[in-house]
Amino acid sequence: MNAPVEAGQLQPLNTPDYVKNTRLIEWVGRMAALCKPDRIHWCDGSQAEYERLCQQLVDAGTFKRLNPAKRPGSYLAWSDPSDVARVEDRTFICSEQQADAGPTNNWMAPAEMRATLQPLFDGCMRGRTMYVVPFSMGPLGSPIAHIGVELSDSAYVAVNMKLMTRMGRGAVEVLGTDGEFVPCVHTVGAPLAAGQQDATSWPCNPDVKYIVHYPETREIWSYGSGYGGNALLGKKCFALRIASRMGQDQGWLAEHMLVLGVTNPQGQKYHVAAAFPSACGKTNFSMLVPPKGFEGWKVTPIGDDIAWIKPDAAGRLRAINPEAGYFGVAPGTNLHTNPNCMHSLDRDVIFTNVALTDDGDVWWEGMEKDHGGQLPGHLIDWKGQDWTPEDAKAGRKAAHPNARFTVAATNNPALDAAWDDPAGVPIDAFIVGGRRSSTVPLVTEARDWTEGVYMGATMGSETTAAAFGAQGVVRRDPFAMLPFCGYNMADYFAHWLDLGHRLELAGAKLPRIFCVNWFRTDEKGSFVWPGFGENMRVLAWMLGRVEGHAGGEENAFGTTPRYEDLHWEGLDFPRSAYATITSLDRKAWQEELKLHAELFEKLAHGLPKALHRVKARLEERLAG
Ligand code: OXD
Ligand code: MN
Repeated sequence: MNAPVEAGQLQPLNTPDYVKNTRLIEWVGRMAALCKPDRIHWCDGSQAEYERLCQQLVDAGTFKRLNPAKRPGSYLAWSDPSDVARVEDRTFICSEQQADAGPTNNWMAPAEMRATLQPLFDGCMRGRTMYVVPFSMGPLGSPIAHIGVELSDSAYVAVNMKLMTRMGRGAVEVLGTDGEFVPCVHTVGAPLAAGQQDATSWPCNPDVKYIVHYPETREIWSYGSGYGGNALLGKKCFALRIASRMGQDQGWLAEHMLVLGVTNPQGQKYHVAAAFPSACGKTNFSMLVPPKGFEGWKVTPIGDDIAWIKPDAAGRLRAINPEAGYFGVAPGTNLHTNPNCMHSLDRDVIFTNVALTDDGDVWWEGMEKDHGGQLPGHLIDWKGQDWTPEDAKAGRKAAHPNARFTVAATNNPALDAAWDDPAGVPIDAFIVGGRRSSTVPLVTEARDWTEGVYMGATMGSETTAAAFGAQGVVRRDPFAMLPFCGYNMADYFAHWLDLGHRLELAGAKLPRIFCVNWFRTDEKGSFVWPGFGENMRVLAWMLGRVEGHAGGEENAFGTTPRYEDLHWEGLDFPRSAYATITSLDRKAWQEELKLHAELFEKLAHGLPKALHRVKARLEERLAG
């Protein structure tokens, strides 16, 4: 399809005079010589640049400008139907030794991968602009933050990076003359011959995709996709896969965790970081609105997806949100599930793969709940086709189930005042949890750090049709890091254990660890726990445990609140229902432990003995 490209002229680098980092300039030169773009543009991150690039995307047909009276400053993009999600089977961790990638990652030897990618990247940006996108993951200059630079031939990537990171000149200035950065190269993998125009508004390579990480040299190379985590390389590729390996080397944690602040009516503020697999309501939990009965409490979001956590001089774990925006799933979001999120989307948003209304606004499945259950009479769906409520009856969705919004965190009316604090916030509690219709209780506190790491390590989640194809199968997803850990998962558990051990020895107070499950169902398959804002009741109990006054009862798995240990004002939730979601079924747990054993067998190489000991204790307690 793409005509053979001829050897062309090297383009001028156009390096702005504020760029002083020689390694950066040299690397951009080398990559330009390889990728052979027609033009090079260094992003300064200004609003004027953002608006110019958005207009360019409108002119190219990639963006539709939404009705400014309904959704000011906002755009809608529809991707190629083959390019709608992260591609886990095309994601590689190319460490020198296969054992360092571990059994949960795709691996290829670096030399072999480089030989595979070299011809693909040679001339891959012909006919396009190479955007040089410098960005800081975390507040500019923070000791917890790190800098990356993404080279991309996609203007869509450049404008999304502006909303998702601290992007532009400020990041370059932090780099100075010799600062370190993570080099990230991205191409849609669709070079154009001289004079050739794009035949589509979403260029990508439908046949060849590679999302490649070299953890030892801290490099990211992404080929063939323009979508989400495949293309916005600051997010999953850098902030999780590469950063988790940096954390292992340097003694800190890069986690698939939301971070929030909670302030009680007495004015005491706590901070919590929580790991949930994709499609378990992380964004909703991070933006929780306290329900009736919790007047005077405040929940303030810091991050909805990723946390970087480093010990401070006193050994206290402090977290930042390395991102500066949300790339969240739109379907299912409404004023009931996440009012703060809906208000964040009032203006200045990039929507991808949602439906277009006849009056130039957006729509997705779940929004009808804000309109008394009424579906719009007519839409254009994410594939550009007419859509009516008849299509809904036939099961045809107007928005893709993984449709997204990209929006700056500063749009969030509840944003935590410390969200951009370079020192980060001190973490008082970690939460881990998945989607389980049975077995795992509503909430359990680990008796100690090791037991908490065991809870995170053995986390499982039932897959949803939207996210993974088959429905209801429990996929083990340790710490929600299965697709995101940049090294051997067994070594990752050891890193958690070692870090806790070292901090404890140094006299630091470790955060408590809790395991939650909002998703237990009754015999009819309906959720028993109301979830969303009502999760505040569980959060308040956890903070009561941190403060040392909340009661609970020990069981085989850990400590669970009795009915009377939760605050029930404002919710009529019967004791009998509570019993069904907190019970520990001995038989189910014996089956569950067999699955833990399967996981441990898979991760046997390097699996810390301490985790085997926790499992043995669990078995004893269940038998006793
Ligand atoms: C995400 C994910 O998009 O975890 O955040 O898949
Ligand atoms: Mn995520």
